[in-house]
Amino acid sequence: MTETPAPAAKPFLYVVVCAAGVASDVSKLITAAQEKDWEVGVIATPLAMGFFDTDAVETQTGRPIRSAWRRPGDPRPFPAPDAVLVAPATFNTLNKWAAGIADTLALGTLCEVSGLGVPIAVLPCVGEALATHPAYWASLERLRGMGVRFADPYAGDAEQDGGAAEFGWERGLELLAAR
Ligand SMILES: Cc1cc2nc3c(=O)[nH]c(=O)nc-3n(C[C@H](O)[C@H](O)[C@H](O)COP(=O)(O)O)c2cc1C
Repeated sequence: MTETPAPAAKPFLYVVVCAAGVASDVSKLITAAQEKDWEVGVIATPLAMGFFDTDAVETQTGRPIRSAWRRPGDPRPFPAPDAVLVAPATFNTLNKWAAGIADTLALGTLCEVSGLGVPIAVLPCVGEALATHPAYWASLERLRGMGVRFADPYAGDAEQDGGAAEFGWERGLELLAAR
């Protein structure tokens, strides 16, 4: 059985969550997306699963969070996306995505959706020192060249929860709506 599920009744948004401190507040993004009439499916990197309340997010979206690859023959659990939002996006995942590395479900999904022609937006959360790395500049340039839309850089707040309260989750939805 490899069938794709029936299309969702509403436009379907993939929210790809990476292992940054601000991920603790990703439920705010899901609420904002649902208020804008998106149906949301969350795909998290394996490390990100420890950064937010997964039970609460599954209840909120009404769907399991996807983090591991399905087994051959298992059905695809999510419909195809109408848009993709990577939030928060880490240094690690952005560099690997740009390099075409697909060793997590999140990365494999990102590499694939880049070719679907759907809008893709990114809310990076990368500390100022890390963001000086030349590989990171090259990754951003490459991803922008692929049509990926980026919000302004956000460095986080190491003191508390990574600055989740100030992250500005709605910026991602604005980017998706921009064109
Ligand atoms: C508490 C904590 C907060 C972190 N916050 C960030 C962050 O804001 N941005 C970032 O790029 N990496 C951050 N990291 C490091 C990432 O978790 C690490 O690079 C990891 O490999 C990223 O995996 P992923 O890209 O597969 O999610 C943080 C790590 C910890 C332990």
